[in-house]
Amino acid sequence: MVAARITVNGKETPISPAPAHTTVLDFLRERGLTGTKEGCAEGECGACSVLVARPGVDRPTDWVAVNACLVPVAALDGQEVVTSEGLATADASGTPAVLHPVQEEMAVRGGSQCGFCTPGFICSMASEYYRPDRCAHADRADGSGSGSEHGPNGFDLHALSGNLCRCTGYRPIRDAAYAVGTPTEDDPLAQRREQSPPEPAATAYTQDDSAFLRPGTLADAVRLLRERPEAVVVAGSTDWGVEVNIRSRRANCVVAVDRLPELRALHVGSDHIEIGAAQTLTEIERRLDGAVPLLAELFPQFASRLIRNSATLGGNLGTGSPIGDSPPVLLALEASLVLADADGEREVPLCDYFTGYRQSVRRPGELIRAVRVPLPLSPVTAFHKIAKRRFDDISSVAVAFALDIEDGTVRKARIGLGGVAATPIRALATEAALEGEPWTERTAEAAARVLRAEGTPMDDHRASAGYRTAMLGQSLLKLYARTTEAVPS
Ligand code: FES
Ligand code: FES
Repeated sequence: MVAARITVNGKETPISPAPAHTTVLDFLRERGLTGTKEGCAEGECGACSVLVARPGVDRPTDWVAVNACLVPVAALDGQEVVTSEGLATADASGTPAVLHPVQEEMAVRGGSQCGFCTPGFICSMASEYYRPDRCAHADRADGSGSGSEHGPNGFDLHALSGNLCRCTGYRPIRDAAYAVGTPTEDDPLAQRREQSPPEPAATAYTQDDSAFLRPGTLADAVRLLRERPEAVVVAGSTDWGVEVNIRSRRANCVVAVDRLPELRALHVGSDHIEIGAAQTLTEIERRLDGAVPLLAELFPQFASRLIRNSATLGGNLGTGSPIGDSPPVLLALEASLVLADADGEREVPLCDYFTGYRQSVRRPGELIRAVRVPLPLSPVTAFHKIAKRRFDDISSVAVAFALDIEDGTVRKARIGLGGVAATPIRALATEAALEGEPWTERTAEAAARVLRAEGTPMDDHRASAGYRTAMLGQSLLKLYARTTEAVPS
């Protein structure tokens, strides 16, 4: 097996002798690439953003911005990374001489003061600069590409939702984002998009007594997990990276499943959509392109673009968090999970999956291979995330609705809740209170009273139990108001 190595700004660098838990951030900084900064070390500030060549949605390669503080460097074995230092054009001596267009706009529009956050903003901006369909979005016939969160150049401001700046103020940064043009034909990173990214290496990186392993196939992965039941399974590492950095957790064995081909498919069939558990949320968002409106409503509210570029549905379900944002939506969609181990596969409805706080029916050695969403979809849907910030925050309460309303009567209601119990739950009593009833204000108010009594909300630092209870009821009234509000003539 070839020794683990990573290509940084065009230069191949061996990963050894870095310990197996070393993050990309620490690896880069220890090699002098100190443009990549550590702000929070938990995926919330974006100061560590770097670009990775990943399989593209519309072209062979996309330049994807990720949080270098969360990703183990061994996870990028064989991969290509570009840091803020690698964006400028170098002179003959290798010294950066001509600013990248994104750097140039940030400089001339005053987008940087102390500069601590700037390299991270630059990498997130560069990822959006190279997004192949960016300009097409500016020209969409329905105008959706040029709304208040898109610039006239199609720049989606959500690309920067994971980057914090404490001293410049965001207007000049937005000005820079909205001023960037399109890559020229001789731009090397634009040209790079036309070739495929490196195939994921089957990695066996061991340092001291710790191993980072990337099996090449699902069969290898489940065999390995049977042999090493203590292994920590990671996909995007957005959860494990926090454990390593903030709680100083270490594992003897980490098994990466994010590049397993069997977990990377997305298939739209006649009676269900199957989403590979290791598709990132950004990939799902772009591939489905609004085909599942409830998921389309979820994605912009799920953490930040930087996190969505790494995080997977399998990871969000696998951690079993009661405040994960995807479970309420998937419960409302009546999704099921395909679980795989060395003995084969089984399908489990998501409503039967969670058994307790961070516990599930998933057995040791079992992987989530895919999520299945049955078709047809219910036509009336909504996802309400109640949090202290509009973006990049953790839910206090999350509510997802999927209703079939025919001839003014609720034929079917599915409601998923997060943040009100030890696990994500279905609001079964409220569903029963709605089904068969006319979709009227009276029904909505009666069902809202039932919804307020669902779950066992707690007081914590995010919200009081009383607030959570109130928000549940309010959420249903808001849905009713939205579905019945008069369309202005
Ligand atoms: Fe803050 Fe990585 S250091 S997101
Ligand atoms: Fe100082 Fe952003 S320029 S934190």
